Amino acid sequence: MAEVKLNGISKSYDQGKTWIIKDVNLEIHNGEFVAFIGPSGCGKSTLLRMICGLEDITTGEMHIDGELINDHPPHERQVGMVFQSYALYPHMTVAENMAFGLKLARADKSIIKQRVDEAARMLQLEPLLERKPKAMSGGQRQRVAIGRSIVQEPRVFLFDEPLSNLDVALRVQMRQELSQLHRRLKTTSIYVTHDQVEAMTLANRIVVLSPLQPGAKTNLEQVGGPLELYHHPANLFVAGFIGSPKMNFLNAELQQPGEEWSTIKLTSGETLKVAANTSSSACGSQVIIGIRPEHVLLLPDKKQDQTEKDNTVIATVSTLERLGSESFIYLDHDSVREYLIVRVTGSGLQNENDKLGIHLPPKQCHLFSAEGLAFSRTHKPELNTCQS
Ligand SMILES: Nc1ncnc2c1ncn2[C@@H]1O[C@H](COP(=O)(O)OP(=O)(O)OP(=O)(O)O)[C@@H](O)[C@H]1O
Ligand SMILES: [Mg+2]
Repeated sequence: MAEVKLNGISKSYDQGKTWIIKDVNLEIHNGEFVAFIGPSGCGKSTLLRMICGLEDITTGEMHIDGELINDHPPHERQVGMVFQSYALYPHMTVAENMAFGLKLARADKSIIKQRVDEAARMLQLEPLLERKPKAMSGGQRQRVAIGRSIVQEPRVFLFDEPLSNLDVALRVQMRQELSQLHRRLKTTSIYVTHDQVEAMTLANRIVVLSPLQPGAKTNLEQVGGPLELYHHPANLFVAGFIGSPKMNFLNAELQQPGEEWSTIKLTSGETLKVAANTSSSACGSQVIIGIRPEHVLLLPDKKQDQTEKDNTVIATVSTLERLGSESFIYLDHDSVREYLIVRVTGSGLQNENDKLGIHLPPKQCHLFSAEGLAFSRTHKPELNTCQS
């Protein structure tokens, strides 16, 4: 177990001309499972490789257990890296692959055997110890790669998209195995993924990174528990990144600010109430309302005329995606960026071109400034109301 501290970590590849990562400050606690997520190219692997020692740190300080490790080579950092590509030696058996690092470090034979056997038992690899990688499935190979790390008893596990080469069913299984493994070993773990379900289900805390924008101070967008990010995204980027399908965004103007309730006028003219704290200086400014597809409610036909009264808008069905257990209704509305997506349980009975009354519950709405920063929410979000 170990504590990992990143202090103002930045990375540039060409002597300061192009920055990939800027000013990342992060404290990862003993035994914590932290996920790095963000779109492709935002620097997740680069950050992980800097922790591992495979990539130089341009500026900033990296500590493990209070020790400055910026200039320590990888083998002195006592971290175990698991890659997406497994990186197993094809000519070695499972047992030899797992033992290789310890052999290089000239560990005692009996210790090597004991650790390999223990890891094989934990990962259900005992019957496969004499097999070569080519005679194994992707999931089994990834277990060997994890086993190879476990036997080294690292202070920190570093995973770079370890499950992305596996099919969906195997990913779900391996996700649960990794979660059990972490509960058992309690080793500090950092897990890079672009799969938010993996991040939400495995991690104690999630670090959201974005591609570094010109002039931006940092590309670290938010750090928080999975539900904290879901219910209280700090900005538009996190709001749009966490959740699937993604949050709906509607363009509006702040008509009447308030400490508990704010009144918003959509660019299409409807007035809505939102449980957000806005200051009077923001009156008249452009704002963006965010609401998740699972929080938008469909009204029965006869209520369509209540537009002004209770946070209701009328929108037209563009397409439907029916997945069996649930459906996503894509609606056109003048204020909406892209589509207004509504999630319903069952196989939605609506049809294309239907006009639907849509209720946006005031306590489920998020509010963002034109710069993309979230106004604080003033009421606890209501529990999901499943609708069909
Ligand atoms: N050696 C290098 N020289 C220059 N640029 C590089 C180098 N290695 C990576 N980059 C750039 O750094 C950025 C971040 O790369 P990185 O691999 O860390 O992204 P990532 O978030 O892991 O993406 P993915 O989800 O696709 O794996 C990318 O734009 C990439 O092109
Ligand atoms: Mg990567």
